[in-house]
Amino acid sequence: MDKKVMLKKDMKEKQELVNIILDRYLPRKDEYPKTIHKALRYSVFAGGKRLRPYLVLSSYQIYDEEVEKIAPVAAAIEMLHTYTLIHDDMPDLDNDEYRRGKKSTHAIFGEGQALLSGDALLVGAFELITYAEIQPRLRVQMVREMARDCGISGLIGGQMMDLESEGKKVDKKTIDYIHENKTAKLIRMALRFGALAGGAPEAEQKALEEYGGKIGLAFQIIDDLLDIEGDPDEMGKTVGKDAHFKKATYPSVYGMSESRKTSQELISQARDAIAPLGEKAAVLDSLAEYMLNRKS
Ligand code: IPE
Ligand code: IPE
Ligand code: MG
Ligand code: MG
Ligand code: MG
Repeated sequence: MDKKVMLKKDMKEKQELVNIILDRYLPRKDEYPKTIHKALRYSVFAGGKRLRPYLVLSSYQIYDEEVEKIAPVAAAIEMLHTYTLIHDDMPDLDNDEYRRGKKSTHAIFGEGQALLSGDALLVGAFELITYAEIQPRLRVQMVREMARDCGISGLIGGQMMDLESEGKKVDKKTIDYIHENKTAKLIRMALRFGALAGGAPEAEQKALEEYGGKIGLAFQIIDDLLDIEGDPDEMGKTVGKDAHFKKATYPSVYGMSESRKTSQELISQARDAIAPLGEKAAVLDSLAEYMLNRKS
């Protein structure tokens, strides 16, 4: 089978598995209090690519075929990701009215409701991890690492600096801090959790994490390039709006062509990092390649 076809098929299968867990976890739309459950389902099932859960499941699968065991962890990372997007779109952060071709959560349900939906997904993520069929000590470790990397010394710190750098000239150190923390840590975490639970040998664990850090940074650079020059129909949101140029991003600091070059280099470094794993990491290798050509 063609590499691209194989990757697509694998992504679809894993998306379905993650969707089942998310559907089981979230209360029905008509359950009391209705609005929050409606809002939660609206944002969780709005058509996200499920990239992070795919990374959890694929790195786990290198060591164990029974991916159902780790699926709650994959779903947890997606819930946490969804919370970051709901809050990220709100007026006091990026003020984006559209996401994935649909109105943002706050634009439909109101700001208070969006805030609370995000909060619910954030705490729910920690609950979900505890349901994974993995060693109890690993559950504790994952809860700890998720709290650390998504908190003030991680994702929140990155979002904070993203916010404070708007409209300012930033140095390379700041921009790298923002990208590493707001985006790359969660992506690296997805690979790390899969590898940890699967029982990867130390060197392979490190290789998968290195791959995660590289694709994580590349992912944000590509996202920022798309926010400027992407096709609005494929992106499902406004592109090229003024706000994107005020942000501390690779394109705004280094220009488009330099940023494109950096993203290509990072992707090739990511592929080199997992090359020693050979055929067993084939889907991750194709995924890195696919990232460079993504349109949304
Ligand atoms: C968007 O992430 C936010 C960034 C970190 C750039 P994705 O592009 O993975 O979002 P969805 O879930 O697939 O829409
Ligand atoms: C997203 O960064 C990072 C987080 C939400 C943590 P962006 O602000 O660039 O993501 P989009 O473009 O809104 O998806
Ligand atoms: Mg943002
Ligand atoms: Mg944003
Ligand atoms: Mg963006």
